[in-house]
Amino acid sequence: MFNRLIRPWNTLTPWPRPGDLVRELSGTMGDGTHPSFAGQEQRNNSQPSGPSWRNDTGRPLASGAWLEAHHVAKLPERSAFASRIAERKPRRIVDLGCGTGLWLQLLSDAVSPDCELLGIDSDEAALASARLRATAWPQSAEFTALDFETQANELPDADIFLAFNVFPYITNLWELLATLKSKIRPGGCLIVRQYDGALLRIGPMSDRDRQLIDLSLMASVAGSGQFKHYDLDRVFESVASSSFHSKEIDFEVFRRVAPYPPEFQNYLLNTVEWTRRHISDEARERLDAWHLKTGHANATSVQSYFMEVDLVAWLS
Ligand SMILES: C[S@@+](CC[C@H](N)C(=O)[O-])C[C@H]1O[C@@H](n2cnc3c(N)ncnc32)[C@H](O)[C@@H]1O
Repeated sequence: MFNRLIRPWNTLTPWPRPGDLVRELSGTMGDGTHPSFAGQEQRNNSQPSGPSWRNDTGRPLASGAWLEAHHVAKLPERSAFASRIAERKPRRIVDLGCGTGLWLQLLSDAVSPDCELLGIDSDEAALASARLRATAWPQSAEFTALDFETQANELPDADIFLAFNVFPYITNLWELLATLKSKIRPGGCLIVRQYDGALLRIGPMSDRDRQLIDLSLMASVAGSGQFKHYDLDRVFESVASSSFHSKEIDFEVFRRVAPYPPEFQNYLLNTVEWTRRHISDEARERLDAWHLKTGHANATSVQSYFMEVDLVAWLS
């Protein structure tokens, strides 16, 4: 028997500054030996070489710390979404690219004890964390190491498949969607959630600074063979032209306006820190200036915002 992984949601210190996260995580994540994100990462030489937010198998933007920072920041919205899934009264949910099991944890709180929860991921370390997390869940929970693109035929059937922020790692979305469709039980569905780098915005900042930062980031990470930071159009087209009978495709806005809740701050810091590692020196200077200016966003006098748009699709 495992024990449920009990971890306080919020163990944050006061507002961190650019570079703090790298120092904080470099001792624990230590995966800086992986090749750069797009093979053209522009590193800030003033920073120690720290994590690139990869998981143990080298997938970018998938480390446990990164996933947890997102999860904690978005907990109210994610909990509400889990309740919507639970309304469908599923008997088996399969989470594709479950990572450390954060979404399944929310679903465990929301669905009936007789619903099976199955997590699929290729990263053994993430699965080990997920198994620990699941120990005290009332449902039967299993976590299986599988590449759900190349081994899609081995996936079990399910009432609900989740594909949350996993399509950017997948080469042939059409084929995967067709296979998933064949594995959905009658009355079931596939739910897709997908962020896009171009629909993530921090501000306020001048047009010039925004253009400098956005274009520099795009030039640095677009074209990566490993992962697509700007994937919304491909995902939309694949989903919209798939052979599912019912396709409810929509967008959700995630937003926070300063003063930020403490549980949001690590996510913002992660986002700024990740961005500054991939952009030009000039763009980094502008981003750092923005962050320093808004860094005391807990003070009511400083105005700033963060917003991000996710594609959300229910396919059956
Ligand atoms: C960005 S994380 C998303 C985690 C979670 N779904 C969420 O939204 O918080 C992507 C996860 O998908 C996994 N993954 C990516 N491609 C995969 C594949 N082809 N087979 C299995 N797992 C994969 C990664 O290991 C990682 O855990």
